[in-house]
Formats: sequence, structure tokens, C-alpha cells
Amino acid sequence: MARIVDIGCGPADILRYFRKQRPQAAYLGIDMSERYLRQAHLRAIEKDMDARFEKLDLSRLESHVDIAEQFTAMLEQFAPDRGLLLGVIHHLNDHTVLTTLDLLGQVESLQRVFTWDVVMCPRRRVNNFLARHDRGGFVRNVAGYEDLLQKSGWKIQRMFWTRPGLKAIDYINFELAR
Ligand SMILES: C[S@@+](CC[C@H](N)C(=O)[O-])C[C@H]1O[C@@H](n2cnc3c(N)ncnc32)[C@H](O)[C@@H]1O
Repeated sequence: MARIVDIGCGPADILRYFRKQRPQAAYLGIDMSERYLRQAHLRAIEKDMDARFEKLDLSRLESHVDIAEQFTAMLEQFAPDRGLLLGVIHHLNDHTVLTTLDLLGQVESLQRVFTWDVVMCPRRRVNNFLARHDRGGFVRNVAGYEDLLQKSGWKIQRMFWTRPGLKAIDYINFELAR
């Protein structure tokens, strides 16, 4: 059974891909928004899933050693094998991204981390217009994401593109491995 930690899980939209009453995964969702966490919790109940949720502001990990320790202790106890940072990195400054990835790297069970984000792309005017108006304050270009992730202790195993919604918007995806 997969053990997934979903960091910046929001309302846990991803749970809609899990079938009801089939224990395909244990799921730990983390977000700073109580409202989203409440919605995520209801979604997990609907799916009858082995899920738990924790409130955490990732930007506090760097400056609060106690919070960072609680974060890693919680993850070590949950023992995820994969981590998700979906639509999250473009909400975080470089320090917070690197601190989060560094702490994730300390969790031995965790083998892969998957990310997707909006991205600034040359000559993609609609994409860039929407990216500029995204609520995330740290939308980067391709090199910006790559450089940042290369500074982490994780290896970029794969970079790929998706267009889950509007054709005009490109999402950059990374699979990170040890
Ligand atoms: C674009 S949403 C993505 C939600 C979900 N991962 C998905 O794929 O649908 C970004 C999420 O990151 C969370 N987030 C942003 N900054 C955060 C922070 N500093 N600490 C924790 N969560 C944060 C927001 O609350 C929001 O739920």
C-alpha cells in the first residue's frame, strides 16, 4: 500500500482519484489553511480512507527549530514512501522550498517527491498573464525551478509538462529522487 504525504494538500482534490473503500493508500495531508483541511477531511471521510490531516505553515520551518522537529517526527512516524508538493512551490520562497525539501530528505522512508507548478514560459502570453495573476507569489521560469531544485539534496529524476485544464496553461512537473 502506498503511503503518501501531500504537502500543501489544499482540499485534497487528489482523493477524488481514489476508489471508495479500497485501501490503496494511507494519506497524510498538510496545509496551512484550516478551511482547506476541513474540506479535505470531509473528502477523506467520503472515500472511507485511512487519512489524517495536520495544520502547518511551511514558512515557519526555517526559523522555528521546534516546528521543524515536530514536522520530521510526524513524517518519520507516518513513514511515507512518496511525497507530493502539487501546486505549492510557486507559493513559497526559495528558503522555504529548500528547508522543506531538506527536512523531507531526512525522512528515510521517502523515496520520491512529485511537484507541479505554474511557470513563466517565453512567448506563452496567455499562460504568462495567468501565471502573473496566480495567488502564488513565487512563479518562476523553467531555469528558476530547475536551479532551485538542484540546490536541494534531491536529484531531478524527470521533468515533464502537463495541461490538466486549459490548453493555454502549461504546468511544469518534477519527479525528485534520492
Ligand atoms: C494551488 S493550491 C494546491 C492544492 C493541492 N495541492 C492541489 O494540487 O490541488 C496551493 C496550496 O498550498 C498551500 N500553501 C501555500 N503556502 C503554504 C505554506 N506556507 N504552508 C503550508 N501550505 C501552504 C495553500 O493553502 C494551498 O492549499
